[in-house]
Amino acid sequence: MTEEVLRIRGGRPLRGEISVQGAKNSALPLMASALVCRGETILTNVPQLTDVYAASRILNRLGCRCTAEGQTVRMMQNGLETSEIPDADMRAMRSSIMFLGPILGSTKQCILTMPGGCELGPRPIDLHLEAMRKMGVTIREEGGRILCRAERLTGAHIHLPIPSVGVTENIIMAAVCAEGETVVTNAACEPEITDLAQYLNQCGAEIAGAGTQTVTVQGGRPLTGTEYRVMPDRIAAMTYLCAGAAAGGAVCVSDAEPAHLKSCLSVLEQAGCRIGICGSRIFLDRSGGLRNIRYIRTMPYPGFPTDAQALIAAVMSTAKGTGVIEETIFESRFKYLGELMRMGADIRVTGRTAVIAGVPKLHGAVVTAPDLRGGAALAAAAVGAEGETVIRGLHHIDRGYEDFARVFNSLGANVERGSFSA
Ligand code: UD1
Repeated sequence: MTEEVLRIRGGRPLRGEISVQGAKNSALPLMASALVCRGETILTNVPQLTDVYAASRILNRLGCRCTAEGQTVRMMQNGLETSEIPDADMRAMRSSIMFLGPILGSTKQCILTMPGGCELGPRPIDLHLEAMRKMGVTIREEGGRILCRAERLTGAHIHLPIPSVGVTENIIMAAVCAEGETVVTNAACEPEITDLAQYLNQCGAEIAGAGTQTVTVQGGRPLTGTEYRVMPDRIAAMTYLCAGAAAGGAVCVSDAEPAHLKSCLSVLEQAGCRIGICGSRIFLDRSGGLRNIRYIRTMPYPGFPTDAQALIAAVMSTAKGTGVIEETIFESRFKYLGELMRMGADIRVTGRTAVIAGVPKLHGAVVTAPDLRGGAALAAAAVGAEGETVIRGLHHIDRGYEDFARVFNSLGANVERGSFSA
């Protein structure tokens, strides 16, 4: 069988400047929240990705007309035709669960099934459902479908047992339509939540505290669509910086938000990279050898992001000395390590801890992206490796990166999409 793959001929330093795409993890909840705003929402800086196309499909099925032209997405909400998301759309991506809060907010009912997406271990939706229950929604399961309905959507005090990004966003999107005040404590503080709150406030909502552990929403304000620019993608920025660190050279990532990347940039500095910041541009210079990072632990924002865990492992693979990574957010986020080992990395894994002993060089191999960020990490490793790497499972990478090969090539890498016969 022939499949589309990435072919990467590595081993030469990267040099140049790229503009970072808009954030996938912000664009998706922003698109979903168009459902709670009357009239037209225009989002700019939306990356062209398969996850964005999936969100657009869901909106159109619901009766919210969604069209895209380049990085501009327009959505027109004049009342929904249905409150049900078909199973095939739910399975297309994990973020389909982001539609639960806004559909309930808009129509007081919602029918869906379990979402799909990257397999990072059990990614339940119990906390999403529990939060909606607290806001007056009754939920029952019937033949694999989850039926949610509320007579009245009411504000509530919701304490999250873990600071889930998606649950915080879903609560905010439902709460702007609920009667009265909602207070979320132990809320996630990720910048994408601040972006969502800023957008909704621009539409007329009253949300305070986004970006802190306590978010307060005064519900019931009339919301009207607006024009809004999606924030820069901090993980895509980190991807190209890590590729620069792995391959050596000098890379500039522009149109970024350096403040969102503090923990990532400090780790890259510890590894021996020189980092410079000028406005929205981040410069990385790696002319000498890399030093390994003694210990990294993934944590909710502002800690080191789980989404950058695989990327930093690619850098650590050829850094002098031994480093340790502990993954605390998702259970199965080490699948890519076996693929890095095919490229010559020396890694030992026990449970949620990986011990990486740096080797002088990685070499090309045929590897498979097990998930989105694992796939990006393999590409970052491959541009620094000697010889040709073939990356299979390209659909994972396409979920999150716009023009992946072109962006790499504008930094002087040799990356092309090609076919591969297994
Ligand atoms: C979002 C990001 C993802 C990132 C993650 C953590 C989007 C589209 N995706 O995912 O890229 O890796 O934040 O920064 O923004 N959990 C439950 N029950 C639930 C919901 C979550 O147990 O109902 C658990 C998860 O299994 C995980 C933890 O909570 O162990 C954190 O996940 P969460 O913050 O919800 O991640 P997502 O919002 O899915």
